[in-house]
Amino acid sequence: MTSQAADSPAVPNFDRVPRHVAIIMDGNGRWAKNRKLPRIEGHRQGTKSVEAAIKAARELGVEYLTLYAFSVENWNRPALEVKSLMLLLMESLKRYAEELSENQIALKAIGRLDDLPENVREQIKITEQKTARNAKMTLLLALSYGGRVELVEGVRKLALMVKSGKLQPEQIDETLIANSLYTTGIPDPDLLIRTSGEMRLSNFLPWQTIYTELYVTPTLWPDFGREDFFAAVSEYNKRERRFGGV
Ligand code: FPP
Repeated sequence: MTSQAADSPAVPNFDRVPRHVAIIMDGNGRWAKNRKLPRIEGHRQGTKSVEAAIKAARELGVEYLTLYAFSVENWNRPALEVKSLMLLLMESLKRYAEELSENQIALKAIGRLDDLPENVREQIKITEQKTARNAKMTLLLALSYGGRVELVEGVRKLALMVKSGKLQPEQIDETLIANSLYTTGIPDPDLLIRTSGEMRLSNFLPWQTIYTELYVTPTLWPDFGREDFFAAVSEYNKRERRFGGV
């Protein structure tokens, strides 16, 4: 992630670079199954694709990269897989901390972070603090994230403000709702990439993605590299964004 390998092809020069790219990293399990490996090997390989995506985004000048690393629904997976994923996350956070800073990238976790094991929460806090002043890009890690739960929590915050008299129901508008979410202050994603061919949003950023361009590739996440990221941005450049206009 630190430096471009000597044989890496040049960074393409796009007319439009999306400010915010969000990724549903899917297909780790299938990648492992195809090789008769345990699922966790797919996730482990997936961390390499995470690095490649961060690097590619940074090279292009993307300002925000949001990765769907663990959903609220993922808690229903076998305990061993959940435990291994948490371990992998811990390892990666420790490993990335320095590289993120070298590349001027700030880390921010979004989701029901209280659900995470204490040591993971602690590591997130440390990495967030260490990288907080990095201004070139923000890496948002969605952890124990669920779009509906995010909205429920936001609605509760607003309801409490109404109850205490600080807010009138008529004052509730789109800006106030957006500011009650985990992504407050962050522009909506311009491009959403989903790997492994599934055509659904899976409870990922439902409020924020209403005008987001969708890019679905059959490539499984562990096979998704720098060039695939560039291909997604290239496709984005061919799209005409009308935001409901003509
Ligand atoms: C989906 O594949 C992937 C996940 C649920 C986890 C993603 C996690 C990583 C890539 C590794 C750790 C993350 C970071 C940010 C370091 P799947 O298991 O649903 O695949 P399948 O649909 O083929 O079974």
